[in-house]
Order: sequence, then C-alpha cells, then structure tokens
Amino acid sequence: MRINLKVLKTSTFRLAAIYLTVFAISIGAVLSYVYWNTVVLLQDQTNDTIGAEVQGLAEQYRQRGLSGLLEVIKERSKENTGSVYLFTNFVGRRMAGNLDSLPVGAVGNEGWFEFPYSARTQTGREKHIARAYHLELAGGFTLVVGRDVEERRKFAGLIRTALFWALGLAAVFGVSGSLLMSRNFLARIDSISATSRTIMAGDLTGRMPVTGTGDELDRLSLSLNDMLDQIERLMSGMKEISSNVAHDLRTPLTRMRSRVEAALRSNVPGEQRAALETTLVETDQLLVTFNALLSIAKAESGQARAGFTDVDIGELIEEMADLYEPLIEDQEGSLNVHVEPGTKMKADRQLLAQMLTNLIDNVMKYGLDPKTGQPHVELFAGHSAGQVTIYVADKGVGIDEKDHQRVTERFVRLEKSRSAPGNGLGLSLVKGVIELHNGTLNLQDNNPGLKVVMRFNK
Ligand SMILES: Nc1ncnc2c1ncn2[C@@H]1O[C@H](COP(=O)(O)OP(=O)(O)O)[C@@H](O)[C@H]1O
Ligand SMILES: [Mg+2]
Repeated sequence: MRINLKVLKTSTFRLAAIYLTVFAISIGAVLSYVYWNTVVLLQDQTNDTIGAEVQGLAEQYRQRGLSGLLEVIKERSKENTGSVYLFTNFVGRRMAGNLDSLPVGAVGNEGWFEFPYSARTQTGREKHIARAYHLELAGGFTLVVGRDVEERRKFAGLIRTALFWALGLAAVFGVSGSLLMSRNFLARIDSISATSRTIMAGDLTGRMPVTGTGDELDRLSLSLNDMLDQIERLMSGMKEISSNVAHDLRTPLTRMRSRVEAALRSNVPGEQRAALETTLVETDQLLVTFNALLSIAKAESGQARAGFTDVDIGELIEEMADLYEPLIEDQEGSLNVHVEPGTKMKADRQLLAQMLTNLIDNVMKYGLDPKTGQPHVELFAGHSAGQVTIYVADKGVGIDEKDHQRVTERFVRLEKSRSAPGNGLGLSLVKGVIELHNGTLNLQDNNPGLKVVMRFNK
C-alpha cells in the first residue's frame, strides 16, 4: 500500500488518530490498573502467608523451646512447598532450614527483602526469586522465613506482555485502519474534484460519482448532481433561445431589409409609404416574438420562483373570463366558467395570466366550432389532495394526437393554422410556465375540440 502524504492531512485521518489515542490511553489505563492491583494483591498475600508462618514458629518456640522450633523448621524444610527457611546461630552457622546461608541482601538489615536463590524442582535446581522476612532473635540467633515468588513474577510478567501487545496491536490496527479509511475518503474527494474539473472544462454532462451507500459524500454528490442538472437545463435553454433568435428572427429581418432597400430604389409614388407601413407591422410582430422569447427564457430559468406569491387561481380565472367575455359574446359564442372556491397556490401571477391568455387566444384563433365559427370556451379551476387543476377547453377541430408533443416546441405551428397571425411561441410559453411551477401539461381530445389540462402541486 503506497501511502500518499495527503492522506495524513485528511479530517478522517485526524479524527481516527484522535480516537486511536483516546482508545490507547484507555486500554493502557485499564491494563495498568489491573497489573498494579495484581502485583500489590499477590505481594500482600505472600506477606500474609509469611507473617502467619513467622507467628506459628514463634508459637512453637514459646511452647517447645529452641529444640522444638528447630524440629519444626527441619520438618517443614523437607517438604517442597515453595517456602524457604533458615535458622542460624550467633556465628552464622546454619542450624536448620533449606537455605545454605544468609542471603547477601539480608545481612545487616531486618525485615522484608527479596533475593535470588537456587530452588529445588522436579527437574533439578533452578534460579528463583524469593521474598522473605528476616528476624534477629535474642542470643544471636537469626530466623529467615520466606516464599518462592517466581510464579507471581511470571504472572506479573505475563500481564505486562499482554499490556504491550494490546497497545501495540491497537496502534497497528488503528493506524492502518485510519490510513485505509482516509485513503478511501481521499479517493472519493479526488474523483469529485476530477469530475468538477471536466465539467469546468466544458463537459456539462459529467456527474459526481455516487456509491449508493447514502453517506454524507453521497448526499453531497447527489446535491451537486441536482445542481448540475439544473445548470445543464438552463444552459441548453439559453443555447436554444439564442439559436432560435439567430434562425427565426433572421428571416423576417432579412425580408424587412430587402423591402426597405427596394422601396428606397423605387420611384413609384406611394410605394415607399406602403413599404414603411408593412415594415411597421412586421417590426411590431418581431417585438411580440422577442417579448415572447424573453418570457419563455424567464419562465425556463426558474428565477421567477423566488418571487412566487399566494395566488388565488379562481380569482385569476374569473378575471380572464371578464376580459374575454365581451369578445366571445360578440362572436355569439359561449363562455363556461367553473371555479372551486379556495383554489390557491404559490405562483407567479403575471406568468400564469400570460399562460391563460395564450390558451384563450388560441381558442379564439383555432378552436372555433367548425360549423358555426363560434368560440365555445370552458374554463375550470379546482383543487384536491394538494393538487390544483386548471383546464381550458374548446369545441374546435382539436389537435391530432401525434402533434401533441410537437406543438409545444418553439415556433411550431400546424399547417392548417398558417393563415392566422402568430409566431408559434404561445404553447412554448405555456409549457415553460407550467414547468416553472413544477406542474404537468396534458393535451386531451375534448370530443370534439382541445382540452388543455394543467396540474400543479399546491
Ligand atoms: N385550441 C386549439 N385548437 C386547435 N389547434 C390549436 C389550438 N391551440 C393551438 N393549436 C395549434 O398549435 C399551434 C401552436 O400554438 P401556439 O404555440 O400558441 O402558436 P400560435 O398561436 O402562434 O400559432 C398552433 O399553430 C395551432 O396549430
Ligand atoms: Mg398561440
């Protein structure tokens, strides 16, 4: 495993290192406590045993005198119980016991001491450590009573080794674990940065990697991807609008230019004035188209969302109805309005009004009853379970199912409608406004006629 130095700088590694240190300190503390207690406990036990034995021997001396004491010591020295004894006279000669002579450490000081001695075992003699109590008696006699503490020392050693191993293993696993974790983290961060760089280089289709574990990095990637989706949508919208402007506005402008040129060259009286009038009309149309494109761009950018207010849709529909009623009555048509009270949602009121205007305009142009030529407009606004539904329906010739998708595209006008004035942007704006409000657009057959159904979440 090649360790990149960057790994050590990651927050994961730092966090892991802190945990590891705290963990190691806790393990160390617990094990040291256990070690210390064991050592102290065992030592106390040994002291107690030796103390009891000294007491016992003192008792023997009091009851049976020197000879009795020597006899007991000789007796006990024969058994291999792990106890050591020595009884010497005033010149230091051994009178009883299983130690050869007074251990070096004992000379000149009474009380507790530890010393190496050669112990008898099943296999022979071995160097062990013993702990003993050294007592000077009246008459120059010396008594040493002790216990072999080799076992105790081995046990303490075992605990010490366990302690070092535990700390060592914790360190090894901890360090390699945190290195691995940080490396993994770093790899993912690196791939996110790499993706950002390709996106910045102009490839807007790139997306952040998502592992599917749902962790914080995944959540970050998902949010970034949502943002990229949105940016991509906006960018492609912008591109489309600019190419629309380039292509679809160039033709009328070129036409206007050649007409003006021809008029300038013409000597026929009145022709120049006629050309100017036509140009004026076309300029107005161009302005309308421009404004429509700007409205679509505004709706598609999503910026208008920030200015959403509570809009009473019923009220808006009633307003539109009032606006169109005289016109429809003039043409002896009918206007049917159905509004459920309390139909409200967060929206851009102006764009919604523009959307309804476009739809009713279309009815007045293409949705006339083919037999009588009258407009029959139906407006509806209602709500149910968090949803607002609006529809505009007519009794005209309708739109073929196959054209439903196409008519909402920019500048698309169906063949039969070419004679009516228009730029083919009406339904594009309708679609843009609906998308701005996160709604859905549905063109349906009204048997006969067209029914444009719009649904929004409240
Ligand atoms: N109510 C309708 N009935 C039949 N056809 C319609 C209706 N509304 C729209 N259309 C068709 O859809 C086309 C696109 O409409 P629109 O985008 O509003 O552009 P425009 O009104 O400028 O033609 C229209 O040209 C027409 O052919
Ligand atoms: Mg229209």
